[in-house]
Amino acid sequence: MKSQDIRKQFLQFFESKGHLIVPSAPIVLKDDPTLMFNNSGMAQFKEYFLGNGTPKSPRIADTQKCLRVSGKHNDLEDVGFDTYHHTMFEMLGNWSFGDYFKKEALDWAWEFLTEVLKLDKDRLYVSVFEGNPKENVPFDQEAWDIWKQYVPEDRIILGNKKDNFWEMGDQGPCGPCSEIHIDLRTDAERASVSGRSLVNADHPQVVEIWNNVFMEFNRKADGSLEKLPAQHVDTGMGFERLCMAMQNVTSNYDTDVFTPLIQKVEEITGLKYTSNEVKNISEEQNKTNIAIRVIVDHVRAVAFAIADGQLPSNTGAGYVIRRILRRAIRYGFTFLNTKEPFINKLVEVLANQMGEFFPEIKSQQQLVTNVIREEEASFLRTLEQGLQLLDTVVSKTKGNEVSGVKVFELKDTFGFPEDLTELILRERGFTFNKEEFNKELEDQRRRGRVLVERDDWMVLIDGNVETFVGYDKTENEVKISRFRRIKNDKGVLYQIVLDNTPFYPEGGGQVGDKGTLVSANETIDIIDTKKENNLILHFAKQLPENIEASFVAKVNTDLRTSTSKNHSATHLMHLGLRTILGTHVEQKGSLVNPNHLRFDFSHFAKVTDEEIRKVEDFVNARIEEQLQLVEHRSIPIQQAMAQGAMALFGEKYGDNVRMIEFGDSKELCGGIHVKNTGEIWHFKIVSEGAVAAGIRRVEAITGDAVKDYFAQQESDLDAIKETLKNPQDTLKAVVSLQDDNAKLRKQIEQLLKQKAKGLKGELASQLQDVNGMKFLATQVDLNPEGAKDLAYELGTLGTNLFLVIATSEDDKPMLSCYISKELVAEKNLNAGTVVRELGKYIQGGGGGQAFFATAGGKNVAGIKEALAKAIDFLK
Ligand code: ALA
Repeated sequence: MKSQDIRKQFLQFFESKGHLIVPSAPIVLKDDPTLMFNNSGMAQFKEYFLGNGTPKSPRIADTQKCLRVSGKHNDLEDVGFDTYHHTMFEMLGNWSFGDYFKKEALDWAWEFLTEVLKLDKDRLYVSVFEGNPKENVPFDQEAWDIWKQYVPEDRIILGNKKDNFWEMGDQGPCGPCSEIHIDLRTDAERASVSGRSLVNADHPQVVEIWNNVFMEFNRKADGSLEKLPAQHVDTGMGFERLCMAMQNVTSNYDTDVFTPLIQKVEEITGLKYTSNEVKNISEEQNKTNIAIRVIVDHVRAVAFAIADGQLPSNTGAGYVIRRILRRAIRYGFTFLNTKEPFINKLVEVLANQMGEFFPEIKSQQQLVTNVIREEEASFLRTLEQGLQLLDTVVSKTKGNEVSGVKVFELKDTFGFPEDLTELILRERGFTFNKEEFNKELEDQRRRGRVLVERDDWMVLIDGNVETFVGYDKTENEVKISRFRRIKNDKGVLYQIVLDNTPFYPEGGGQVGDKGTLVSANETIDIIDTKKENNLILHFAKQLPENIEASFVAKVNTDLRTSTSKNHSATHLMHLGLRTILGTHVEQKGSLVNPNHLRFDFSHFAKVTDEEIRKVEDFVNARIEEQLQLVEHRSIPIQQAMAQGAMALFGEKYGDNVRMIEFGDSKELCGGIHVKNTGEIWHFKIVSEGAVAAGIRRVEAITGDAVKDYFAQQESDLDAIKETLKNPQDTLKAVVSLQDDNAKLRKQIEQLLKQKAKGLKGELASQLQDVNGMKFLATQVDLNPEGAKDLAYELGTLGTNLFLVIATSEDDKPMLSCYISKELVAEKNLNAGTVVRELGKYIQGGGGGQAFFATAGGKNVAGIKEALAKAIDFLK
């Protein structure tokens, strides 16, 4: 059965059991600070388990793009070495939110595997939680009894907390689980060693395929468990492993999920991958296989992350993506001998293969390809530079152990991974000091660590889910429904949830509202507002004394108004960019705050000044038209899309959406907008540049910021006019000033040359005879260029010259040394050594060639001593 069909079968089966089929959530998470990437199917439903929201249906099923490369679930370093772990994988899942429980979940899992897919029952093992007295969770008798109907007892395994109690992170919903494992070994192997003994023992052909979690608990900050208000089911089946079982192969990489990608790598590199069925392969072939697995795995993770809006970068989620891609590049570089970008060429294969089910990868194929290609090119350059640097380090190392500090520097500044360094060093017969290296690494980690401690919620109003009233009001009467304390490196903060709120939580690029909570006796500042797991969190430095009082929540309307102008202008500009540059323009990032707006979008060339002016005119025309806001607060998404509303990749939309309309601009958006575009007053783009391959960034301002901008421009111009004594034509005056300047510069250069010529005569008479050499060390009143000319001029005076000439310009001392070729050859003198030694007196350094070298420094007072010591070289 083809992988496409296996996926379909799963979804159809659960649809037939009353489940609503939903699309995969984006791989990159937006409003969950505890998780960087979606690491399991349940992550997008966490709020339902916690009771902070209601799902569309009590039964849901999907296939979820997951990434396990950071935090509690991290498989990155295993990938490539084994045949069944991945960075990105698809998790097939079915959920019950307070609906069915263990019986249906396990019955259906068995039915699907053995009756729909017809997997061999004799190859299946199941596990059940053995219980944990310390946590007060009993043995899962119910699951055991259900399984006993289908599976002989000797294939039901009891598992401990590590294997059979599933938790998403350190805090949050969790519960006992029951896993299904499959034994894919040959009959002979199965006859000689029982599969039972290999379950959960890291055997590549006895693997877990499906986990059924019975969500009953919430893990609290202090580590204790509390019962959730309802019982839920959360399941996850590894799609690629299921494909392995269904396609009669013994490695995920031998399924049709990976073979087209592998074939492409073979085509590009001319190397061969051997399937898992080929035994006794050479060490060399094994390395090739590992590298190919790393590459075909990693390209999926990186491509899907980019398609979901996460570009490689130097921080956070972007850095993780960059590191995954670099790991792939490096394996190619070292083991497949690929010195040119090639991973980007796999995107086309991926898009053809997965584009039907995941349209985001197909429609952004070009962008994803470009971004990966650019990253590859730049990291390959880094690898080259690093190799050269490593050569220098090696040449300076006494003994055969390179300092760990140097290896760390290579990693830190060049992104040159230590295992690669080690490999290269080994080839040259060197090792490095790991202790030193680890110490540096640990120091860096300590410096960068941001620990966030979260207390448990103190719930004042039970079961309350707040309503957002901020589209209509900026002030409202509220009560605090829950709060908690969090602590990070910057100190203690409180997160407050209200029973209703006018505060807009950060989202869709727009920053969170600031403001106050005011009661009869006190005022609490709200310094930020964010959304987390469907709750709106108001951040405050302190809690009110009377926490149960009634408050008026007041949004800072000055900030809110400026922000809304920038947000509405962003929509107009988005349409303007698509109209003027073309519909390939897609939003790739946005920031809207009270001061300005920033907008990243796909476009493959610099936006010209003319295009910028056109976009400004486009937006300003719509501001002048005074377009009225038309807000559709909740319309069916199909209806909005049919009207041509713009939606973003990597964004999770519900069935009903909010649509914002200003004339022909229509966007799905939850943000705050002006009532009429006239309020924006004016729009001005202040910068344009590149952020990544094929991604441009524009920054712009509106309203009062434009007034300030023009006022500043005017006052700058006034100051220039005044300086130029109010000429009639300012531009002409500036141009003529520049012309004069260029002329004068030329004249000065001429004069200095003449001066150097004059000095030549004077200095020639000062040459001193030292041990048969002609010596001169002196300071001259020239610029460094002039000193160089002078030295060369003096050099024409004869043979056996040794000259040191000092200059000082703008308090910067400089030494130039000239040595005749005969002296270099016969007396082994070197100008580079001379300036390095003498440079110490002026607190500087430099170098050059053996016959001419210069050194710059900081200490003008040291010139005298440097000149006095010069003669020592001749003694
Ligand atoms: N959430 C469970 C897992 O990821 C199903 O294994």
